[in-house]
Amino acid sequence: MINVTINADVKKGTINKNIYGHFAEHLGRCIYEGIWVGEDSHIPNTNGIRNDVMEALRNLKIPVLRWPGGCFADEYHWKEGIGPRKDRPYMINTHWGGVVENNHFGTHEFMMLCELIGAEPYICGNVGSGTIYEMQQWIEYMTFGGNSTMADLRRANGREKPWKLKYFGIGNENWGCGGNMTPEYYADLYRRYSTYVRNYGDNTVYKVACGPNVDDYNWTDVLMKKAGHLMDGLSLHYYTIPGLFWEGKGSAAEFDEDEWFITLKKALHIDELIKKHSTIMDKYDPDKRVGLIVDEWGSWYDAESGTNPGFLFQQNTLRDALIAGISLNIFNSHCDRVQMANIAQTINVLQAIIHTEDEKMLLTPTYHIFDMYKVHQDAELLDVHVKNTMYKYGKDAIPQISISSSVDKDDKIHISMCNLDPNGELEVVCEFRGTSRTEVSGTILTATEMNAMNTFDNPNKVAPTSFDSATIVDNKLTVSLPAKSVVVLEVC
Ligand code: AHR
Repeated sequence: MINVTINADVKKGTINKNIYGHFAEHLGRCIYEGIWVGEDSHIPNTNGIRNDVMEALRNLKIPVLRWPGGCFADEYHWKEGIGPRKDRPYMINTHWGGVVENNHFGTHEFMMLCELIGAEPYICGNVGSGTIYEMQQWIEYMTFGGNSTMADLRRANGREKPWKLKYFGIGNENWGCGGNMTPEYYADLYRRYSTYVRNYGDNTVYKVACGPNVDDYNWTDVLMKKAGHLMDGLSLHYYTIPGLFWEGKGSAAEFDEDEWFITLKKALHIDELIKKHSTIMDKYDPDKRVGLIVDEWGSWYDAESGTNPGFLFQQNTLRDALIAGISLNIFNSHCDRVQMANIAQTINVLQAIIHTEDEKMLLTPTYHIFDMYKVHQDAELLDVHVKNTMYKYGKDAIPQISISSSVDKDDKIHISMCNLDPNGELEVVCEFRGTSRTEVSGTILTATEMNAMNTFDNPNKVAPTSFDSATIVDNKLTVSLPAKSVVVLEVC
């Protein structure tokens, strides 16, 4: 049995809805086919954006969407993606499969997508191979309401009013694919580039600096020291990779308990990374003004055999649902510093929430976790104490449950719980302090096999169902949490 106490009178801050953000890069079948099919497609679409995907994204209440990369961002030249589509130059997408990028999905198409699904755009600018002038002009093109060559060009391309653009990244992974820079060199470039990212009218840009790779604490220290006062956010990238080596990351769909265990253990590691990077940030920013922006996270396995390895297509199983549940609980718990997170990547790439195959579309187990967890968006995080037991495997062990709780503006308490143990059901007894509760309802995502997944032949194999193994008596909640499951409860 696991004992939990929820201190409803101890609120620990607002869970920024942007923690439930997403990321869509020009990579594989994410943008093309996954989102953009063009106006003449046989796939039903709205101005070129496929309707089934648009509806599914809308339903998730996606708060923010990052684009156009990733590594692609530091090779992207935005002027090639505006104007009549037939006249747009094409390029080779050297990072991702060496395919031809025809630039049919550009600034106007991305902004339209964001408007259609109700998400804030988060655009990543090009520092690696782009100029300051180019970045300056992009911001002017998108957000300037007066008369200038750039604003008039936007109008000529069909958009009269400027867009609102809140989030802008100054480069991506500039320690690697974005230019192989040292932190000192990038910090200086950040200072220069960000100077020319102007606020026009009432548009205020939240500037995100390229942050560390995984546990590169020196990068965080140098960036905060040299440029912390000029940034609003610092990014962090961390992928959950079961294998020890890049060649041999592990299969997404075929694995045993060994790999289940190591994968979840690695997913839990992001907690330590956030704590350590935050501690360094605290040194320079004790008031936590600068957000830690986890703008790439999720599982990364070997590409599915028979697919283009540069397209990073992988299956998505119940294990990925657990990774999502654990990670989102961790981000919630750090809502004092984590202001945004963006899972990689929305459609058909890495830990995707949606898979498509021509006109067919399916929702992955990861999609369902975002759907179940959306109740935490902008809610107040509650203090939770867990007397955790351990899920032991071989000589190693990890906590058996991961849990997060929040209260929303209607005073509903939500509790998200993951049982990491693939073998044992758990009894969780939860006491409430500072509130009196009498009713509980819930939703569960689980399956018989660890590697259960949705396929086009069986698209609803892993789908949420209503959960009735929770009761409240005398303000005490008792939950029978099945093995390898994610449950979200609503308590009134
Ligand atoms: O998400 C795939 C890639 O992973 C991104 O393009 C890059 O930023 C990271 O290395």
